[in-house]
Amino acid sequence: MTHRVAILISGNGSNMLALAKSMTADHPARPCVVISDNPKAKGLTNAMELGLNTATISSHFFKDNRLEFEKELMHCLKKFGTEFVCLAGFMRILTAQFVNYWNGRILNIHPSLLPKFRGLRTHTKALVAGEKYHGCTVHEVTEHLDDGPILGQARVTVLPEDTTDSLSQRVLLLEHELYPIVLRRFIEGDRRMVVL
Ligand code: GAR
Repeated sequence: MTHRVAILISGNGSNMLALAKSMTADHPARPCVVISDNPKAKGLTNAMELGLNTATISSHFFKDNRLEFEKELMHCLKKFGTEFVCLAGFMRILTAQFVNYWNGRILNIHPSLLPKFRGLRTHTKALVAGEKYHGCTVHEVTEHLDDGPILGQARVTVLPEDTTDSLSQRVLLLEHELYPIVLRRFIEGDRRMVVL
């Protein structure tokens, strides 16, 4: 019996594709649905092209009402029989109530070596701080932003000529490697930290 993984996106969905493509053959899970809060997310088209189930819960209609948004999201997750949730470039902050419901079954990828640089513009922050190393982290989601037990990290050396773009591109390639490895281990019950 394979487990059912929902992937939540807001934009390009390149991590979603890496995750979805990894869930084949003897993998213990399969993607059950790709959900976006942005109807224009490029990732939705890519997911459809892969033959995945997709859904949009447009945050536009729920701007001032996170609980209503999450009620719809929860309904959608349950409709597709979701057991695990992967946030993959999903740019909404979820409430404690929602996160606690999925406790132990919800992962996120963040483009920094947490606990450094929570929030947005992580690549710029790393450059401005003069960091020698930068990278990405996969962690369990808790009610605190970009927090929660760290399950994996991948590191790049920051080069003198790096720009926000060059750095983000190198980190993104590592995200595509790291997230599938961590997801598979997580589903198999292995919580030991992966370091790439
Ligand atoms: C990725 O770099 C991901 O780590 C980041 O958004 C990008 C999404 O790219 N997530 C966050 O910043 C969440 N705090 P993708 O849509 O191509 O996967």
